[in-house]
Amino acid sequence: MTRTIWFLTGNSGKLREATHHLLPLGYEVRQLILKEGEIIEPQVDTLEEVAQSKIAQALLHIPDGQQSQDMIMVEDAGLFIDALNGFPGVYSSYILDTIGCNGIVRLLEHLQSEDTVQCAQLRSAQFQAVAALWMDGQILYGNGTCPGWIALESSGEDGFGFDPVFTPNDLDAFGEPLPPGTYGEKSAHGKTFGSISIEEKQAYSHRSRALNDLLRQLPSA
Ligand code: IMP
Repeated sequence: MTRTIWFLTGNSGKLREATHHLLPLGYEVRQLILKEGEIIEPQVDTLEEVAQSKIAQALLHIPDGQQSQDMIMVEDAGLFIDALNGFPGVYSSYILDTIGCNGIVRLLEHLQSEDTVQCAQLRSAQFQAVAALWMDGQILYGNGTCPGWIALESSGEDGFGFDPVFTPNDLDAFGEPLPPGTYGEKSAHGKTFGSISIEEKQAYSHRSRALNDLLRQLPSA
């Protein structure tokens, strides 16, 4: 029997990506869209807590609620800057809307070095993502990280959010991230996510890493 996963997202790109991964495993992915006012973005400390709160809210909107044989998936991400103790983290959307990419660059103005490796270390940051799935009364969590650093200035027209100020660390031959300044099999050559193609960004993506981590825990339908 095909089981349905309700994916709480307004983003059709995220829906396509999830369907691509889950359909071959025997899951039907359906989009759950809640109108403004039907879902509250909680003020909590971790991405897991954000995901947990969204699942609890989504449960009120699927057929049979807690008793449902269906599943619910949510995905949350954020930018965590080491020199700012993880800020903006769970507040990434709000900070993007208020101070934006240029505000982030200004906050790190004092952290610069002629030495590129040292500069990358001083300005280190990660995108983190959590993919959470409610099934049979339990929640499974998948985590994904993309380490890199904050560029000295905004660049690139591609991408969204903090892409214009984020440069990913290189990856080794297995697709795993290397320490800042280490050359690897795959490199953005110091360019920001805003300056490389979506296909190229995919190899570094915290989101697909979180989804893959979740898939590893999932039984076939
Ligand atoms: P969401 O939980 O996926 O909506 O992400 C929350 C916020 O984190 C977004 O509004 C962006 O500001 C930021 N963000 C998450 N993932 C990315 C990314 O891949 N590139 C740029 N910004 C991102």
